[in-house]
Amino acid sequence: MTATRTIYDEVYARSLEDRHGFWGAAAEDVSWDRRWDRVLDDSRPPFYRWFTGGALNTCYNAVDLHIDRGRGKQRALVYDSPVTNTIRTYTYAELRDEVAVIAGALRREGIGTGDRVIIYMPMVPEAVFAMLACARIGAIHSVVFGGFASNELAKRIDDAKPKLVLSASCGIEVNRVIPYKPLLDGAIDLAVHKPDRCVVLQRPMDKATLVKGRDLDWGDFVAGAAPAECVSVAATDPLYILYTSGTTGQPKGVVRDHGGHAVALKWSMENIYGVGSGEVYWAASDIGWVVGHSYIVYAPLFKGCTTILYEGKPVGTPDPGAFWRVVSQHGVNVLFTAPTAFRAIKKEDPAGTYMKKYDLSGFRTLFLAGERCDPDTLLWAREKLGVPVIDHWWQTETGWPIGANCVGLGMLPVKPGSPTKPVPGYDIRVLGEDNEPMPPNQIGSIAIRLPLPPGCLPTLWNNDAGYEASYLTKHPGHYLTADAGFEDEDGYIFIMSRVDDIINVAGHRLSTGAMEEVLASHPDVAECAVVGVADEIKGEIPVGFVVTKAGVNRLDGEIVKELVDKVRDQIGPVASFRVATVVKRLPKTRSGKILRGTVKRIAEGTPYTPPATIDDPAILDEIADSLKHLGYPKSPSR
Ligand code: COA
Ligand code: AMP
Repeated sequence: MTATRTIYDEVYARSLEDRHGFWGAAAEDVSWDRRWDRVLDDSRPPFYRWFTGGALNTCYNAVDLHIDRGRGKQRALVYDSPVTNTIRTYTYAELRDEVAVIAGALRREGIGTGDRVIIYMPMVPEAVFAMLACARIGAIHSVVFGGFASNELAKRIDDAKPKLVLSASCGIEVNRVIPYKPLLDGAIDLAVHKPDRCVVLQRPMDKATLVKGRDLDWGDFVAGAAPAECVSVAATDPLYILYTSGTTGQPKGVVRDHGGHAVALKWSMENIYGVGSGEVYWAASDIGWVVGHSYIVYAPLFKGCTTILYEGKPVGTPDPGAFWRVVSQHGVNVLFTAPTAFRAIKKEDPAGTYMKKYDLSGFRTLFLAGERCDPDTLLWAREKLGVPVIDHWWQTETGWPIGANCVGLGMLPVKPGSPTKPVPGYDIRVLGEDNEPMPPNQIGSIAIRLPLPPGCLPTLWNNDAGYEASYLTKHPGHYLTADAGFEDEDGYIFIMSRVDDIINVAGHRLSTGAMEEVLASHPDVAECAVVGVADEIKGEIPVGFVVTKAGVNRLDGEIVKELVDKVRDQIGPVASFRVATVVKRLPKTRSGKILRGTVKRIAEGTPYTPPATIDDPAILDEIADSLKHLGYPKSPSR
């Protein structure tokens, strides 16, 4: 590997040596109502704040700014929905008009700066308008992914305490209509906090029943509302709360502030993704996830790009050429999705035949993130598409990439299996249990030396103590990513696994701890464990092991079905919890810790050595037997 100092090396070094100068310069690209007093406020470690004293409006920066600079007629948002056969385009001027009216309607409902609004909606333009409308009037949005069930929505309602919920009558999953309103009603029944108002977008495929006095039809909500102007908010005020899985059933409310977010995201478009104003950027994700927040909505709009809102899947809507149809039809320059989408495409179209049907000449780079990218998938995509395929690594908490091959700073050689190098602003350290740096190529806990760059979470919603306990305690002076991995001799990082109970299912972050809580609440279950097991398409899927209470004398199959239904009902279909088994005992250490890692290895057919502290090694044979009945380990096919 070359030892020449690259542009990336220089920019990276400057980002850490002169944080004030570096991010102060990046902030010049954002429109401020009031300039900041301090770029980095480090007066209250470990709580660092960016651009204190500054004031701005996020929606102005995402929408109105471009109109003021003469881009009003440019396409801002293209809604492409193969599941409803719809394509709708909004220019920046049209987007501003839609957003301003919803913002006015929110105002009329008494929503103001700092009030929370939950958005529980499918991938429709109104959901994006709603996010921007909240930002316009300084309200804090919290988008909840549509694949979550009532119970998960209720937890978020109780934590965020929204005055108002914006929802829709239904979502569409390929060709199934999924009614959302019963889930919303169920969540409000379960929640202690009751929102004053719910606004429901009635989609023609399923009309929801409205609750008198509480619910409003979307059309009535916006009718006659006066368009609202952008209000000025403090750079450190929250823009949104996005809940993400933690190690327990209680999700963590990641807070994002206005100023640092606008600066970091706008900077990332050119420097990481190599994308300029006027280009077409498509993040094939969902607005319910952080990728959707940052790279469907905010970053491409900050940059003045055209962003694509795609209500469909990589396969089945209608075929594995769906992505290539969208890329060619809308002139997509850069695509960002999860490796799982490519595994699904590769399975149905291994020869890449569908790609050849479309003109992909404008397509430049593919970015993958959300889960570990297996080298086979990366190499397949690169060979078939003939464009660079960039794996990059980040988390809900950071809101933008931690590790990437920063295309805009000059692409570095790709090492499949590695998301390349730390992104400027992130001081990554691979640490051992003793908090000392690990030598190259040795796995440790990946930490980021504080302060985190702008755009990352300043805290958890109403929970500074939880923020400190979850992220800042394990390695003093550092943020714990909860990912384990190593750095090689060239400074490339490799992300190998989580150090907690989080698993990654089809690029969706899920807590096995939350699933265990659901299984444990079944009246017949004495104890249980859920482990993530490698899956050909989804990367990982959860597999449950339960021990029934003494005296339970029912068919295992009946219990398993109830457990599968229970997880679907309490967490949601997104958990993809379909496989469970009743076992006599769970393997444990002598101190009672369940050996989940060993169970995972047995299920995946990877060699393992039972830990010396195991209580009874014979239990591992029983587990292997049960897994064999479930068809594990699977024969490798990728
Ligand atoms: N609303 C309601 N239900 C939803 C949903 C939503 N927004 N999103 C997913 N679901 C449901 C699915 O219909 C499915 O239900 P089922 O169990 O009844 O079949 C279940 O949740 C699991 O969904 P998913 O994990 O997406 O599996 P899938 O088999 O439907 O599709 C892929 C598999 C790989 C095609 C799909 O996961 C995909 O496109 N992934 C792209 C990755 C991505 O967007 N990642 C986000 C981070 S970048
Ligand atoms: P989320 O918060 O849903 O974005 O999930 C974040 C987690 O997904 C990270 O902590 C990693 O465990 C995993 N992840 C995301 N991107 C990558 C990647 N490129 N390589 C390996 N793991 C990744």
